[in-house]
Amino acid sequence: MSTISQSKAKQIFESLQKFIPGGVCSPARAFGQVDADPLVIGSSSGATLIDVDGKSYIDFVCGWGALILGHSHPAVVDAIQQQLSKGHCYVNSFELELKMAQLITELMPSIEKLRFVSSGTEATMSAIRVARAYSQKDLLIKFDGNYHGHSDPLLIKAGSAHTGIADSKGVPPQNTLSLPFNNCDVLQALFDERGDEVGVVIIEPIAGNMGVVPASYEFLTLLRKLTKQHGAVLIFDEVMSGFRAHLGGAQAFYNIVPDMTCLGKIIGGGLPCAAFGGHKKIMDLLAPLGEVYQAGTLSSNPLALACGYATLTELCKPGVFDCIASKAKCIVKSVSAKLPTHQAGAMFTLFWTNGEVNNFEESKRQDKQTFKRYFSHCLERGIYMPQSPFESAFVSLAHTDEHIDYTVEAILSFLG
Ligand SMILES: Cc1ncc(COP(=O)(O)O)c(C=O)c1O
Repeated sequence: MSTISQSKAKQIFESLQKFIPGGVCSPARAFGQVDADPLVIGSSSGATLIDVDGKSYIDFVCGWGALILGHSHPAVVDAIQQQLSKGHCYVNSFELELKMAQLITELMPSIEKLRFVSSGTEATMSAIRVARAYSQKDLLIKFDGNYHGHSDPLLIKAGSAHTGIADSKGVPPQNTLSLPFNNCDVLQALFDERGDEVGVVIIEPIAGNMGVVPASYEFLTLLRKLTKQHGAVLIFDEVMSGFRAHLGGAQAFYNIVPDMTCLGKIIGGGLPCAAFGGHKKIMDLLAPLGEVYQAGTLSSNPLALACGYATLTELCKPGVFDCIASKAKCIVKSVSAKLPTHQAGAMFTLFWTNGEVNNFEESKRQDKQTFKRYFSHCLERGIYMPQSPFESAFVSLAHTDEHIDYTVEAILSFLG
């Protein structure tokens, strides 16, 4: 009698589920939306992920956007190794903080001062606290389908990118309102009625968590005008769009200056580093100068900063960003006659619906069954696209023309 041997990935995933809820340490890693077991990775290199059974995949998830140079870029590995030889945890100031702060503020001049933290969630959570202290008003506005991490005030009509949970259980009532994205009339009406209560508005100016959906210029301009008029702090959450949608972030693309900005993903280059920053007069409210408390044992970790600094430095070399963005453009251009798409710099989404997608409601009209078949079609061909129809796909410097041509062919063969 023959026995069917189980793959190593399956064995590991089954055991993981005994110790870790769902077998994953972030719901974004589950494959629930595609009815499959998650990948169990053995190693990665360049644009390739290799699972524990030796099957390789061209990676279009790229550390959910962090790996804009690809896996283990030599300059990044070298920077990490050099830093490691000098120590990896100081919990004191060091010179690289200065270089990194200078580089980021040059690339995003709206940021006069910033603070490094370890995750995008911490960045948005901390930005909201200091913004509320500055405006001295509590009402927080966000937009449907925008995801800003998993802190309590922000888990309202969010998070569906990964799991379909837009409003989490366990969150007590919050002073947060979520408005439809890209809807000028609703925005204007809210400010007409309650403008004087609004303390903070946070937005993904180029959303990446309902698929890539850029805000319209008209909508962002109105938002900037109304927040100024009513003394509310405008926060651009550029954790995903920063240095990926455009080298200067969405704020450079639209030429609209927010009061505060949140960054993550690329500034850590794949290690835990994020940041929030903005006007000096807001940031100087933070302890030890001011009375807004915010702290972190691992904030500004030297290894993470070395990784992020090397990543940003490579990305800023002439032609590098445009080269990466051109690969996303190539994929989108090849298929956009057949289905709706959005691309912003080095991120893109193909939408499995007939109509245009300019907000969360329209993105939710996607056909989940078609998406599932598309995902499996790609995976079987060794192409790892994001496992949710509400996620952005990401390209990196490591993707070659051959990777892109092969991927375009695979998508076209699915579209028929
Ligand atoms: C726009 C945006 N903000 C915040 C976050 C939260 O970042 P983190 O997962 O590092 O906490 C994410 C994560 O995907 C994001 O896309």
